[in-house]
Amino acid sequence: MNDTILILNGPNLNLLGKRQPEIYGHETLTDVEARCRAEAEGFGLDVAFHQSNAEHQIIDWIHAYRVGSAGIVINPGAFTHTSIAILDALNACEVPIVECHISNVHKREAFRHHSYVSLAATAVMAGFGTHGYVLAVRHIAHLRAMGRRP
Ligand code: DQA
Repeated sequence: MNDTILILNGPNLNLLGKRQPEIYGHETLTDVEARCRAEAEGFGLDVAFHQSNAEHQIIDWIHAYRVGSAGIVINPGAFTHTSIAILDALNACEVPIVECHISNVHKREAFRHHSYVSLAATAVMAGFGTHGYVLAVRHIAHLRAMGRRP
């Protein structure tokens, strides 16, 4: 647990690679998981990688890792812009949280410019494509090496 990064993906991200590839690219979530795992291993860390279309499931995973894990990387999908419940769950966390968006949400529709999740995030990534997940893993490993908490 102490050496594990929780990586969470919200609604529609199970379709990564098929869904709007001009925005989200051609890699699948399985590809992203493999890249995150390889990156984490280089720092002696493990990864718990999950996706759900259900808000309650995402909240339950946050609760399970909110204390004692290495940190949380979360791409909440559209829940980013709607979910006070996910914000509340993240506010209960005692580990670093990196909010990660594949696309640059600030360059898109106005409704994507506001994030509830950012209110709880240690750091926010947007527009790095799927490489953003790898950078987020690297950042959590860095915080850990520096002995920093959120
Ligand atoms: C997203 C951006 C969200 O606005 C959108 O609803 C998603 C994916 C991203 O990764 O760029 O589902 O979080």
